[in-house]
Amino acid sequence: MNNNGRAQFSSKFAVVVAAAGSAVGLGNIWRFPYELGSNGGFAFLLVYLLFVFLLGMPVMLSELVIGRRSQTNASGAFRVLKPGSHWSLVGLLGVITAFVILSFYFVVAGWSLEYVFQALVNRFEGQTPNDLSQAFTDFSTDAFRPLLWTVVFVFLTSAVVLAGVQKGIENISKILMPVLFLIILILCVRSLTLPNANEGLKFLFKPDFTKINSSVVLSALGQAFFSLSVGMSCLITYGSYVSKKNNLVHTAFEVTALDTLVSVLAAVAIFPAVFSLEINPAQGPELVFITLPNVFTQIPGGYVWAVLFFLLLAVAALTSTISLLEVITAYVTEEFKLKRRTVVLSSIVILVFCATLSSLSLGVWSDLQLFGMSLFDFFDYLSSKILLPVGGLFISVFLGWFYPRKETLDELSNGGKLSVPLFNIYFFLLRYIVPVAIALIFINELGLTK
Ligand code: PFF
Repeated sequence: MNNNGRAQFSSKFAVVVAAAGSAVGLGNIWRFPYELGSNGGFAFLLVYLLFVFLLGMPVMLSELVIGRRSQTNASGAFRVLKPGSHWSLVGLLGVITAFVILSFYFVVAGWSLEYVFQALVNRFEGQTPNDLSQAFTDFSTDAFRPLLWTVVFVFLTSAVVLAGVQKGIENISKILMPVLFLIILILCVRSLTLPNANEGLKFLFKPDFTKINSSVVLSALGQAFFSLSVGMSCLITYGSYVSKKNNLVHTAFEVTALDTLVSVLAAVAIFPAVFSLEINPAQGPELVFITLPNVFTQIPGGYVWAVLFFLLLAVAALTSTISLLEVITAYVTEEFKLKRRTVVLSSIVILVFCATLSSLSLGVWSDLQLFGMSLFDFFDYLSSKILLPVGGLFISVFLGWFYPRKETLDELSNGGKLSVPLFNIYFFLLRYIVPVAIALIFINELGLTK
């Protein structure tokens, strides 16, 4: 607790693991590898890295500033910093985005549990590639089984959030994040020691710029924001639990670096294995659920690797769903003066409902389409390609243009105690580069320049 009785992370380490826990998730291990595989390998990686450091990290730092300065939830934060304005709607948009993301995220998180189970009972052994592909299609389009796992995942997440900031979020992140690192490192070593592994590395590190077009650029932007958990006030919420003694610039840099490292490690754990077995790298969302079980059936000790990999996926997903649910919980408890328990329990009902819609939209309700997409794809598209970049744009405009620059500097320097050598560059990025780049990418993607 801080002096005002508000919950707080207990140490610098706790802040970094909790924020990295939010950032590192399905976005890194499920989404990044298939985006990379289908969008040109290294060329995509370069555009992605550019966006992460030039656009994503400044927005992350801004969210941390807004959160710690205001000491309140996503929406209340803007009201505290700019009373009487409509800026709090940006925070509300973040809360809505959390619901949209969780609607499909819980479904994939549920799949990861099913695959932990399948790996444990050695279900992949002796299966042909066709069997594995059919098994995933049968499972993901089934009406009941994916939902069961989704509900289990919703309950796991809720239990942690119910336990509160320190006892729940902080403690679980301190255990799970080091476990996650260990598992991914072991998997990288396994993948790199397979025959022909360097074909996969060549693919990862040899650029194919012909694949880069406006929609790939938007994908890279969406992926950068999604992966860093920025653009929806998640780090405003977590920032409000950070002690006034922390160095926010260091925190933002460390979280960005860890998140990027895990994405690259996930790709290194996956592609050499994929190439070693001559499997097509350009698969979509099913890459980790179909291709990897294939890999596991063909390598020595596959049983152990399969269990480890899907455990990694589930652990990464859990620390992220926790942060998404915390955005909603902090907002409703503080804005409507309700108990954490009441809020979490009622959120469960809404979230299970939304996740059911997106899960069923892949199977029995596949006719239910929005803009030519299943609900599942629509929630994914809407959140990462529209809501997060728009949120990031507003956050950067707010801090860049509508909040006194000296106040931002004061927060970043902990009231003048720390030096912030790169402040001018950060502020320039925030004022000009972030909003203009996001706007241009949108305009280009919408075809308005043609
Ligand atoms: N960053 C998470 C991932 O890469 O899986 C997803 C996410 C979590 C997005 C929290 C946004 C957020 F606020």
